[in-house]
Amino acid sequence: MNKKILVTGGLGYIGSHVVVELQNEGFQVIVIDNLSNSSMDVLDKIIEITGITPLFEKIDLRDKNMVSDFFKRHSDIYGVIHFAASKAVGESSNNPLKYYENNISPLVYILQQLEKIKDQNFIFSSSCTVYGQVDKSPITEDTLLKKAESPYGNTKKIGEQIIEDTCKINNNLNAISLRYFNPIGAHSSAKIGELPIGIPQNLVPFVTQTGIGIREELSIFGKDYPTPDGTCIRDYIHVVDLAKAHVIAMKRIILKDNSDNYEVFNLGTGKGSSVLEVVNAFEEISGIKLNYMFSERRAGDIAAAFADTQKANKILGWKSELSLNEAMLSAWEWEKKINSNI
Ligand code: NAD
Ligand code: UD1
Repeated sequence: MNKKILVTGGLGYIGSHVVVELQNEGFQVIVIDNLSNSSMDVLDKIIEITGITPLFEKIDLRDKNMVSDFFKRHSDIYGVIHFAASKAVGESSNNPLKYYENNISPLVYILQQLEKIKDQNFIFSSSCTVYGQVDKSPITEDTLLKKAESPYGNTKKIGEQIIEDTCKINNNLNAISLRYFNPIGAHSSAKIGELPIGIPQNLVPFVTQTGIGIREELSIFGKDYPTPDGTCIRDYIHVVDLAKAHVIAMKRIILKDNSDNYEVFNLGTGKGSSVLEVVNAFEEISGIKLNYMFSERRAGDIAAAFADTQKANKILGWKSELSLNEAMLSAWEWEKKINSNI
């Protein structure tokens, strides 16, 4: 498909992988990013991987006038994939208004402008965090959404609601919210990947940083959960599999294959892995014995959270293909690459 797609936050971790997949499928891509959590180097890497230069505009989407002006100049866009947001769960509790502003205002401004473009197709980056403290896994899309655990999580719940409400009164708007489970890994070229700022809060970057010696030791939070090995279970999905789902979802709404003008899909592997299984996978692919210890449970963690992916498999026609080991290997190659450049 040779249609023009706007990717907001397209120089970030997930967005950059989606830009690559869109360009591989023949889409023309225009990226908006304010570089608050990314850099222009990522654009160069996307060009190196795909041989194609996406259009780029440095815009802060909190600026309503800039958003309006952008859409006036680009009425030939066929769809928007909206990644731009702040995503640090802990920071969101300390600075909730930063999160309510950055994760909600741009969403509203973009939705307000969609009538100016060719076709109102919209994909939203949501998260399994919208389910809150679930009682059981696998988690289906029909699982009741509980109270959000953090302001960040709440912005995703509110974001979904804003889109659903807008779809109800605008039949020309076709939107999909994609609820990601735990995205990990990097592109096979090791040219793009996740760049955590400061001490990683998430498991996999902490594992790879410990493996390379930046961190002394991984603390495994809790060993007495009601799981087979006592450590928490999550659904770790390779970022490239995740990226491909976005292309499929965008094609679905462009081709009007959707059954409702607002749809929601879980994006995970459907398979839970424990913290110890992640550590073992890392040791297997790297040949390194990881230095780890067990510590207290982390507040707010639940024993197990993994996706029921049947809806995405059947209706979207998408399934994750890459294994935990493949994801860990790509994360490790990426870790080695970024440290060799320092
Ligand atoms: P990221 O921080 O790597 O990417 C976000 C990008 O958006 C960055 O390049 C940043 O510079 C840009 N940005 C932020 N605010 C902006 C603004 N006001 N105007 C323009 N650009 C702005 O994050 P990511 O991990 O790629 O996540 C992408 C999306 O997926 C986010 O919406 C996030 O909440 C969601 N999500 C991420 C995860 C995860 O584990 N990474 C899980 C579930 C959902
Ligand atoms: C995180 C986010 C959540 C988001 C989800 C999917 C937080 C607090 N929550 O949760 O909002 O929806 O990713 O993107 O960031 N662990 C350790 N040691 C560590 C780090 C983690 O043992 O140093 C364990 C955790 O206890 C957990 C597992 O590893 O059991 C995964 O942790 P993490 O990567 O933070 O993901 P989530 O907890 O699923």
